[in-house]
Amino acid sequence: MRLLAISGSPRNGGNTECLLERSVAGAQSVGAVVEQVALNRLRIGPCMECNRCYASGRCVVEDDFQLLCDKALIADGVILAAPIFFMNVCAQAKAFVDRFQCLWALRYVLGQSVPLPPSGLRRRVAFLSTAGWQKTKFDCALTVVRAFSATIDAKLVGSVCINGVDAIQDIEKHPEALDQAFALGQELATWPVSQPLTGD
Ligand SMILES: Cc1cc2nc3c(=O)[nH]c(=O)nc-3n(C[C@H](O)[C@H](O)[C@H](O)COP(=O)(O)O)c2cc1C
Repeated sequence: MRLLAISGSPRNGGNTECLLERSVAGAQSVGAVVEQVALNRLRIGPCMECNRCYASGRCVVEDDFQLLCDKALIADGVILAAPIFFMNVCAQAKAFVDRFQCLWALRYVLGQSVPLPPSGLRRRVAFLSTAGWQKTKFDCALTVVRAFSATIDAKLVGSVCINGVDAIQDIEKHPEALDQAFALGQELATWPVSQPLTGD
C-alpha cells in the first residue's frame, strides 16, 4: 500500500500538518509506505485554462505539478491536508486540485479512463482540515475534495475537519482530533480492496 500525503498549508508545523503527521503515522502503523510532500515547498501554479490538456489529458504547464500528478496516480491513495482560508481550502491546495483539470479532460473530452495504480487497487482519498473559527463549516472544502476524488477516480474514504484551532499547534489541545486523524490513516490504508470500481 503506497500513499501520498500532501500538506497544503503554508504554515510548516501548523495545525493541518500536525493532523497530517498523525494520519501518516496511522497509515504506517498498518504497513503503508507513505511519501509526504508540502505544497509550499513546490512550485505549482494555477490552471491557466489553456485547454491544451484536451488534446492529450496531460497538463502542458511545466512546473512541479507534473511530478506530483504522476506520484498521485501511482499511489494507492492520497491524504490531502489543507486549512480553511476564506471558507474553502487554502490557495495552495486549490491550485493543486485545479490542475487535475487534465484528468477531467482525459475522461470527459478524450473518453479515456484514469488508469488504476500499479497495484490494481481502487484509489482512495482522505481529507484533513482545520479552521480558526469555532462555527466554521467545511462544506465548501468538502465539495472541492469530492470533485477532486471523483476526477482522479478515487473513493473519498473519510475526513477529519476540526474548527476552533487558530494559533500554531492549537490542535495539540485536541488529542481526540489527533486520534481521529490516526484512525483515518489506518482506515485509508486498510480500506477493503473489493469495493466496486464505480460510485463516489
Ligand atoms: C488567509 C487566511 C484566511 C482564513 N480564513 C478562515 C476562514 O474563512 N474560516 C476560519 O474558520 N478560519 C480561517 N482562517 C484560520 C485558519 O483556518 C486557521 O488558523 C488554521 O488552523 C490554519 O491552519 P495551519 O495551522 O495548518 O496553517 C484563515 C487564516 C488565514 C491565514
